[in-house]
Amino acid sequence: MNVQPESAVEPTDPVQLRRAFGSFATGVTVVTVGGDCPHGMTANSFTSVSLDPPLALVCVEQQAIMHRSLLERGQFGISVLAAHQEPVARHFANRRRPLGAAQFDAVDWTPGRVTGAPLITGALAHFECELWRSYEGGDHTIFVGSLLSVRREQEADGVLFVRGRFRQITPEGVADLTLDVPAGHAAARGGVTG
Ligand SMILES: Cc1cc2nc3c(=O)[nH]c(=O)nc-3n(C[C@H](O)[C@H](O)[C@H](O)COP(=O)(O)O)c2cc1C
Repeated sequence: MNVQPESAVEPTDPVQLRRAFGSFATGVTVVTVGGDCPHGMTANSFTSVSLDPPLALVCVEQQAIMHRSLLERGQFGISVLAAHQEPVARHFANRRRPLGAAQFDAVDWTPGRVTGAPLITGALAHFECELWRSYEGGDHTIFVGSLLSVRREQEADGVLFVRGRFRQITPEGVADLTLDVPAGHAAARGGVTG
């Protein structure tokens, strides 16, 4: 049977396009840089790229503070958030959070062994990366990192992000964690799929 799409989306309509991108479910990470001015940012654009050499990428909006931090520092950490860490995701997506080291007061973290980037305690996995290449991607930059260290911390479910909502896999199925990320909230700008 030929199922008609619900509605055609104009690719140049950012609201509709974000909604369409948002139908692709992702996990959620926090990207961090260490040093004198540490910074963290929630990102669902994390993607594994290559096993040999080991590479992973994240897309960062050019206007984000993280964009500058990442270029300056050249090294970064990635924490893959567990199902119970939705508040952490909200914190690092909130543009009103404190800047610098103070933004990490709200979470437990340890410095990455190689880069010193803050790694979020309780995450499913931690990666430390050296910036390998960056590519222009419209209003985002695609940062490809070469992996310097990898730790699988625990076998558990991660937090999911789909259609603008955080969700969790439970024995009964997929459950909503909270209400939508509010429209107009900084978090709703969610990278390429937020
Ligand atoms: C679930 C979720 C995923 C997000 N993913 C990304 C992303 O991949 N890239 C990005 O640039 N922003 C993403 N954002 C938005 C940023 O986290 C948000 O704009 C943040 O405040 C930017 O931080 P900064 O400007 O302080 O660095 C996401 C937000 C949410 C809620």
